[in-house]
Amino acid sequence: MGLPRPGALRSLTAILLLLPSTLGEVTIYHAPGQAGPTNSAAASDYTSLQAFNPTTLTPPAVPTPAILTNIPVKLQKAGTPNLGVKQDGAFLGFSIEMSVSNQVFGKNSTFLQVPFLNLMASLAARAGSVRIRVGGNSQERAKLVDTIPDGRVLQKDLDGIAPGSTATPPIDYTADLVYMLGNISALVDVNWIIGLPWFVTKPFDLRIVPLAETVLGDHLLALQAANEPDMYVLHQHRVEPFTPYDYGGEVSDFLAQLAASGMDPSGSASKKLVAPNLGSFEQKPEFLPDNFWKTGFADTFNENLRYLSVEKYPVSNCGAVFHNGEKILIPQEVLPEFLNHTTHVQNLVAPFINSAMYAQSKNKPFLMMETSQASCGGLAGVSDTFGAALWTLDYALQMAHANFSGAFFHTGGVHVFYNPFTAPPTAESGFRGWSVGPMYYAALAMAEAIGKSGATQVLDLTGSIAGVSALTPVYGIYENGAPVRVAAFNYADDPTGATDATFAISVSEGGTPASVRIKRLSAQSVSQKGRYTWANQTLGGFFESDGRLMDGEVVETIQCDSARSVCEVKVPAPGFALVYLAGDVFGAGNGDGADPTVTFATTLRTKTHNTATVDAEVLATSNGHNGAIDGIGSTSRGKQSGARTLRETSIMLVATLVGVGLGAGMWLR
Ligand SMILES: *[C@@H]1O[C@H](CO)[C@@H](O)[C@H](O)[C@H]1NC(C)=O
Ligand SMILES: *[C@@H]1O[C@H](CO)[C@@H](O)[C@H](O)[C@H]1NC(C)=O
Ligand SMILES: *[C@@H]1O[C@H](CO)[C@@H](O)[C@H](O)[C@H]1NC(C)=O
Repeated sequence: MGLPRPGALRSLTAILLLLPSTLGEVTIYHAPGQAGPTNSAAASDYTSLQAFNPTTLTPPAVPTPAILTNIPVKLQKAGTPNLGVKQDGAFLGFSIEMSVSNQVFGKNSTFLQVPFLNLMASLAARAGSVRIRVGGNSQERAKLVDTIPDGRVLQKDLDGIAPGSTATPPIDYTADLVYMLGNISALVDVNWIIGLPWFVTKPFDLRIVPLAETVLGDHLLALQAANEPDMYVLHQHRVEPFTPYDYGGEVSDFLAQLAASGMDPSGSASKKLVAPNLGSFEQKPEFLPDNFWKTGFADTFNENLRYLSVEKYPVSNCGAVFHNGEKILIPQEVLPEFLNHTTHVQNLVAPFINSAMYAQSKNKPFLMMETSQASCGGLAGVSDTFGAALWTLDYALQMAHANFSGAFFHTGGVHVFYNPFTAPPTAESGFRGWSVGPMYYAALAMAEAIGKSGATQVLDLTGSIAGVSALTPVYGIYENGAPVRVAAFNYADDPTGATDATFAISVSEGGTPASVRIKRLSAQSVSQKGRYTWANQTLGGFFESDGRLMDGEVVETIQCDSARSVCEVKVPAPGFALVYLAGDVFGAGNGDGADPTVTFATTLRTKTHNTATVDAEVLATSNGHNGAIDGIGSTSRGKQSGARTLRETSIMLVATLVGVGLGAGMWLR
């Protein structure tokens, strides 16, 4: 359906040449012969697929009275107190709902999604590695089967949709899904957390354990023991009484069954659990984290727990999606709550401060296993706009400040608003690129904010600055105790420039540098969709990305005022600046400012026959160079063209853009 015919290749080229579209306007490109307009479309054309919804909201009003716009940021050269845990550049990772893994990662172990590899490569180059959790509600009844027709790795059992508020179907998958993850890790340093099926405990289905252990090896970070067990009763997967002790009993059973099975001969898998993944404890106070820890869970399973974990969405959009009686949120009304530092500090992170201290006392890294703006798919015009990039970055830095050791932002396929990146719908994958969302840009900035040293600590300075607004949070970033970077935000949306903020950075004891370098996360407005830039590079708008950053990188240098011993950095309303006081700047110093990321440019192919084969460079430009429009290749079955070598080895990887049928349901948390 809708695939370009071989005879239409010339016009397909012409259509691809039209990319990218103009800013602020949604342009839909159709393959020749496909019904529909070839230029701007009404918003309603898109509303069937949330991931590509063009709805924009009105930014919050300019703050009155005016906020403090001259913000003193006084750093100590050494000895800053209360610095928290040391952070990994991979702090901001992704949570991929297991049921959409064949849309995101690839069709199978030999057909990987090249845009996905490129997206991960850009992060790994900055952070050292990338962390991905594969799981969610769909892990709970995932069943390993020997084969699925057509070389697929996953199929949904739509007849078996569970009762409860999230209509995530059970899935069948093959071992090749795990080989696919292994193949990804062989190309880019991606490390995995894999969800264990937990609904059925007598007996547990353990087969994923030896498979993940042997295929992923050191790339397997952890196995997730139950997803939101505190909600099991609510969703009718357990009957009362189901307390933290009952859940602990299940963890015991799991370990006993694993030991008895002989599937973990070295015992290493039994030491890789991440738990308890508590989600919505309001319903059951015994599952409030502070109450949960009192059961002694972390001591009982000290040997088995690699991480302690929670899950949290600030609000729920389930009322709008499922009409389950929950309050229906109006995105325009809640938008200001997502453009404000206080909501992060008070609503999102404060409930976990004690837990994070507790985890430190037990020597366990503390993870936010799954999060985003709103459960049940996010919010239109909130989750998919520049404001969400600022929100995500502020939230990630706030978690790092509050002694979390990592956070996973959820991805749920074409029916949700909050994806960091979305593959095009299957039927259109032959001629469309990926859509890269705000959370991915936040991940780029976070990767550079933390960097690769392994000795980075983050401190929220906002509360210590007299008179500062919640619209202009600022963080100090330290390596080995010394301030090396400053992360400065402006959530206000004021095109007049009157609310631009100037952060006046100084370092005690003559530590103020002579100059600073700056990378910016930018857009015209908090409500802008797509085309955000990180250090001037972008991944385009809807359907415009092959996963590689486009346009040249821009790193600004600002001379500091040596007389006043201050570096003044202006952050427009809205905007974000990562200010490098010292140390290397990623990507800078390469002469032309080119991104040193290894990227994968290879054949994009949909279906196996009778379709166009298009070189990836046709879809996008990379690193400031215009891709040569020369990649139209063979259209005959069994041939590919334009395949490139990866890392100058001879591995040939055929990428395909595939997905599952549209309208097959909601893949949600
Ligand atoms: C993080 O942990 C450190 C101790 O390692 C502590 O001093 C600091 O107060 C904690 N941060 C927060 C926000 O709780
Ligand atoms: C992946 O899918 C393709 C196309 O359906 C098939 O030719 C190939 O054999 C599959 N690979 C594996 C490992 O199953
Ligand atoms: C991917 O996995 C398969 C196993 O299905 C293996 O044979 C193949 O060599 C791997 N390919 C790459 C590029 O690592």
